[in-house]
Amino acid sequence: MKALIIGNGGREHALAWKIEQSPLVKKVFVAPGNGGTDLEDRIENIDIDINDINQLVLFAKKEKIDLTIIGPEIPLSKGIVDTFIENKLKVFGPRKLAAQLESSKDFAKSFMERHKIPTAKYKTFTNIKDAHRYINEEGAPIVIKADGLAAGKGVVVAMTVHDALVAVDSMLEDNLFGDAGARVVIEEFLTGEEVSFIVICDGNSILPLASSQDHKRLLDLDLGPNTGGMGAYSPAPIVTPELHRKIMSEVIEPTTKGMKNDGIEFTGFLYAGLMIDKDNNIKTLEFNCRMGDPETQPILFRLESDLFEILLAAADKDIKNYKAKWEPGSAITVVIAADNYPDQPKINDEILNHNHNHNHKDAYIFHAGTILKNKRIYTAGGRVLGVTAKGDSLKNAQKEVYALVKKIKFNGMQYRTDIGNKALKKGL
Ligand code: AMP
Ligand code: GLY
Repeated sequence: MKALIIGNGGREHALAWKIEQSPLVKKVFVAPGNGGTDLEDRIENIDIDINDINQLVLFAKKEKIDLTIIGPEIPLSKGIVDTFIENKLKVFGPRKLAAQLESSKDFAKSFMERHKIPTAKYKTFTNIKDAHRYINEEGAPIVIKADGLAAGKGVVVAMTVHDALVAVDSMLEDNLFGDAGARVVIEEFLTGEEVSFIVICDGNSILPLASSQDHKRLLDLDLGPNTGGMGAYSPAPIVTPELHRKIMSEVIEPTTKGMKNDGIEFTGFLYAGLMIDKDNNIKTLEFNCRMGDPETQPILFRLESDLFEILLAAADKDIKNYKAKWEPGSAITVVIAADNYPDQPKINDEILNHNHNHNHKDAYIFHAGTILKNKRIYTAGGRVLGVTAKGDSLKNAQKEVYALVKKIKFNGMQYRTDIGNKALKKGL
């Protein structure tokens, strides 16, 4: 069979790498892909933009693609799945209305309130004066979120009232995020430990993937600006079997049931970003309607089951008899970012030693912002590589991953040196 993956990040390289291993699959295309997918023997990059839905449909028809998997949120929010289904093409991902769980924070918050899914207290504003009044009443710390998609940059955790007012002004008055910031959600500040919990939904049944933890801040010790994610490990040791059950019954099941009851069946990857407090109380920070990046890389690196077979079954609404099988131990991904990320990343630097993939069963370098030119690999985006390794313990996976990171060289590369430390310090 033939698979098409849409996207160009580390997530899509990992998806393509995993799907290519399925005995059911003879060819994997990635549109548009990156330097890493370009280097893979049995994966082909297709030069079509992720938002050019008509061209993607034409390509899928021409090549008789058996399953298309959508990586990023933007085409999902534009209704790519609806268009594929209208064209009788098999696709895995949520329809436009269901993708609102990610594309509108206000939709997600009112959905959670209506279906009693635990989340931070909030209010939504379009009017600056009302928003200011609310912030002055509530005090700081407080969290300001642009309603729409803003590539992970639309959230300000304001430690002072002044910073909160400035954040609201930048969204409602200065249009920093355009339409995405024309409405803001202002919510209660939560503390605890963050967990990424991702499941596969077929509209009826749920298949949970292994848990993971992302590292959103640029610098060690969770300092510096927020990014798309600088590293992750899987599983997240704080997610004990008991907490896993609680997340399923308090968050995931009410979400899929609630969507169904609202007449918006959810098919696709459902990603709940959760805050777990010291008493194991769960609050939902956000929903994404896709796999996480970089969480995908360590999750799929431990997955023994045939992902293509599972996603094909999910697209056919038939995953109830499937289970995911995991290798024991841990996997860890360290993101190497370009100079000046997350602002305006510098591009076009040659990357040396990026390809230790051959004969490396326990480690793999997934590419993100890279491009292949004349058999050489150059930086082409903010997050450049997702160096990934596994081990029988998180500690060994960490040792392995940093040994590999240290071999890679390009101008201005930056990475965190503490991915995994939080769990290791707790002795988990
Ligand atoms: P979001 O895109 O909503 O997940 O927010 C991005 C990041 O901001 C999260 O991963 C958290 O680190 C932080 N954040 C979001 N909401 C809150 C909150 N209510 N309290 C504390 N931190 C938050
Ligand atoms: N790593 C966070 C995300 O994919 O949204």
